[in-house]
Amino acid sequence: MRYDLLIRNALIIDGSNSPAYAADVAIHEGRILRIGDLNGVSANEEIDAKGRVLAPGFIDVHTHDDTVVIRKPEMLPKISQGVTTVIVGNCGISASPVSLHAEPPDPMNLLGDAAAFVYPRFSDYREAVDAAHPAVNVAALIGHTALRSNHLDDLYRTAKSAEIAAMRTQLRDSLEAGALGLSTGLAYASAFSADTDEVLQLAEELTAFGAVYTTHLRSEFEPVLEAMDEAFLIGRHAKAPVVISHLKCAGAGNWGRSPQLLAALENAAQSHPVGCDCYPYAASSSTLDLKQVTDAFRITITWSTPHPDQGGRDLIDIAAEWGLSLLDAARNLQPAGAVYYGMDESDVQRILAHPLSMIGSDGLPEDPFPHPRLWGAFPRVLGHFSRDLGLFPLHTAVHKMTGLSAARFGLLERGEIREGYWADLVLFDPALIRDVADFNNPQRAAEGIEGVWVNGHLSYANGQSQGTRQGRFLPRSGSLSAGFDREF
Ligand code: ZN
Ligand code: CU
Repeated sequence: MRYDLLIRNALIIDGSNSPAYAADVAIHEGRILRIGDLNGVSANEEIDAKGRVLAPGFIDVHTHDDTVVIRKPEMLPKISQGVTTVIVGNCGISASPVSLHAEPPDPMNLLGDAAAFVYPRFSDYREAVDAAHPAVNVAALIGHTALRSNHLDDLYRTAKSAEIAAMRTQLRDSLEAGALGLSTGLAYASAFSADTDEVLQLAEELTAFGAVYTTHLRSEFEPVLEAMDEAFLIGRHAKAPVVISHLKCAGAGNWGRSPQLLAALENAAQSHPVGCDCYPYAASSSTLDLKQVTDAFRITITWSTPHPDQGGRDLIDIAAEWGLSLLDAARNLQPAGAVYYGMDESDVQRILAHPLSMIGSDGLPEDPFPHPRLWGAFPRVLGHFSRDLGLFPLHTAVHKMTGLSAARFGLLERGEIREGYWADLVLFDPALIRDVADFNNPQRAAEGIEGVWVNGHLSYANGQSQGTRQGRFLPRSGSLSAGFDREF
């Protein structure tokens, strides 16, 4: 037969954490049909990939791309990194199911203003994604804070039993319509007042679906171990796999504790499927949180509704100019976004290198001056951390952004280069790949990405989007227990 596409002589890193091998790959009608020595086989199009790595398209397991996949479906910040699938709805905030009567509460405003929240049911969101034809595949979590905003008149208290029942119904409907699971953002004031029991009861809906529980922990500062225990308790209670979002040791008083956190993760993993995601930077970013304002490390303002001209400036300089304390300056800037240089590099590297960690960008696409992780997270792991620092082999770096991620989130027939799997692929130069975006110039495409295919279609090459956008909505494809059995 004649295939659609043959990629010849590639160094295949298949996503399973095995070392690279040379082979040809034949693609037809969106899928990988053959891998091996394909001499004498013909195709409508052939590419010589000698010296290049062919890997599964990267899966960004931690995004806030909920509304941008619809509003800016080219998804250039992601496809230019080799990302072919994004998981939206992290940190308790999702675009659906949401019915707002006012502006969205913090941090739902990371996804846009009230006009962006037009999906009262998850099925509405799913239809909107399909209609937008984004360049990347989209799978979605349901945010706890989003559910709270639908049913609580006051987010600064625990939900009452009737409110919990209403949230459960919405969560169940969403899981039936293909959502991957539940996410929480318990550190944020809009969810912090939810007690463990509120989340436990909601999470019970996950059991029947074998769906996942992901969490931005109640604290990433000194009480982080207690917060991890809470997450494991909820996961075990609901028989739901747990993914700790952007695991870190936040705050100067907390630096150097990553061995304790990872030991706790390993310990929990012995009896229950747990893991984490992380982004490869020692600075975090979110809305400007007064509780995190400190002079112990640098804080940069990324946006401010009352003072848009202050985006990109250091809080300390703004405060000095205004003759105010850091805290008062921060109050004047709100609502606002910030980058916090609040981690220690050795903690970041230890968590990145751990076998239970996956890569997620946590990029903020609405931000006018975004943290560089939005454009650089994946090439930074491959170039800076794997090749330049030797933190782990290249095939392990790829595994953390492909095969491991697909198994954790139950994305069937994706995340590995295997015969029969979907042809989500990235071709890159292992000597050249690098992140170019930095904190001064955060919106720059990575170098070294030569081709990105989504569902078998070339979607990015030569620094530009190609052809039509071929991403799809990916519904939850079944219970996660199988994927976890394989990993543990
Ligand atoms: Zn978060
Ligand atoms: Cu997040």
